[in-house]
Amino acid sequence: MKPPAVTNPPVGRPAVGSQSAKKSAGGTQPGDGIALAVVGAGQRGTLYARIARRLGAKIASVANPGATRRDRFGDEFDLPPNRRYATWQEMLEDSPAWDAVVVASPDTEHAEPGVAALEQGHHLLLEKPLATNPAAASQLAAAAAASGKVTAVCHVLRYSPSGRALADTIRQGLIGQVTGITHFQPIGWWHFAHSFVRGSWRSQADGSSLLEAMGVHDIDWVAGLVQAPVERVISFGSLQHFRPEHRPPGAADRCQDCPAEPTCPYSAVRIYGRFLDHPLYSDWPLRVVTPEATPAALAQALRTGPYGQCVYLGLNDVVDHQTVNLELAGGAVIDVTLSAFWEMAARSTRVLGTRGCLEYDGQHLSWFDFASGERRDITPQVSGDAGGVYASGDEGLIRAFLEAVRAEDPSLVPSSVAESHRTLKLVWAAEQARCSGRVISLAGPN
Ligand SMILES: NC(=O)c1ccc[n+]([C@@H]2O[C@H](COP(=O)([O-])OP(=O)(O)OC[C@H]3O[C@@H](n4cnc5c(N)ncnc54)[C@H](O)[C@@H]3O)[C@@H](O)[C@H]2O)c1
Repeated sequence: MKPPAVTNPPVGRPAVGSQSAKKSAGGTQPGDGIALAVVGAGQRGTLYARIARRLGAKIASVANPGATRRDRFGDEFDLPPNRRYATWQEMLEDSPAWDAVVVASPDTEHAEPGVAALEQGHHLLLEKPLATNPAAASQLAAAAAASGKVTAVCHVLRYSPSGRALADTIRQGLIGQVTGITHFQPIGWWHFAHSFVRGSWRSQADGSSLLEAMGVHDIDWVAGLVQAPVERVISFGSLQHFRPEHRPPGAADRCQDCPAEPTCPYSAVRIYGRFLDHPLYSDWPLRVVTPEATPAALAQALRTGPYGQCVYLGLNDVVDHQTVNLELAGGAVIDVTLSAFWEMAARSTRVLGTRGCLEYDGQHLSWFDFASGERRDITPQVSGDAGGVYASGDEGLIRAFLEAVRAEDPSLVPSSVAESHRTLKLVWAAEQARCSGRVISLAGPN
């Protein structure tokens, strides 16, 4: 027996922005006539600005404290000197006629510029997490609600073509009622060492937890797939491995000087050396380590910067593996695991329904139907969105945001500030559960 026909095929069908996508049909681009100001000229700010420009938007101003990045960004987007600002406060005070502000500064620097941009009447694209403390997140959520503006938080998993198709398949009832989701984020051994041991996300005390920085995507993604409030949360995890007691005997502080380097899986010399000509990783993460991708510049960066340091120095406090369980009203259960200890790979999600199940590896999506006993590949056939395991939703996010701004319709964006605030409350509940060892009960809708 064949699986039931998909009456409204999820394949390639846009789940968001479809109304204004019609406007684009006559050759107009979603970003036409939209001017953006960017806070944070780093990796994400530059990426979003490139996509937005390709989709027709104008990049009109930038704020970044460091002059090198500010000018590199300013040169790339042809900004005159008076549209390159050292602080977002100066930029917003100057307030030329942009339509939207993109906030892509570090985790602790999102809420304040976000609130200020909304209060000035701009639409807002904001990096995750909204904030690293509840008071700032609530202030931002209140400003977003009062503004009526389009807000989009960069939960890119919601915007990849396959991710949209998966959500649509569930919404259409093709697997019946969802009873569970099991989701794995294999952060990857070198990615974890790069970002969470040596890099900007290594300190929970000064910045964000693993869940705030990374798991917020996963929890947003899986909780957004089921239309039911979360009632109970538990979580376990720790910094098990990247600690001074696991330092090999005789290891040096820098990989370049270390006798254990040849056999150490976390050797910065080997990890970054492989990326010099890598098709995916020669930009990120290599350019984070060294602005110039040459063997000499890399050697110098590893000799002097944080990315050449031993991973066992004890300068990090972020957990290296964590699991979160959510119980939803109606009985569905969700488990989310994040771990450093896997190869660098795309996330995988399995959705367990009463009539069938879905399997998703970040790109391929398959549907097994219990009645027919058949499995079917329902991966959308779309081009573009290339560029590694993290890039797949980037273009979809920017497209949806620009379409919503053009239509002045906040409902066209599924990852609003309000939605992300709900996610962040789950993240904080999970962290509270992990630290206290208790089951956290959540009262009311979330
Ligand atoms: N959505 C995603 O998939 C995703 C992926 C990676 C990172 N992120 C998030 O994006 C944000 C930026 O990350 P990144 O990798 O681009 O980091 P980055 O370090 O490359 O860029 C951040 C930039 O912000 C600048 N900056 C610092 N303080 C600032 C301030 N007060 N005002 C303006 N600019 C300021 C820095 O100088 C830097 O140029 C982080 O919050 C990160 O968690 C999201």
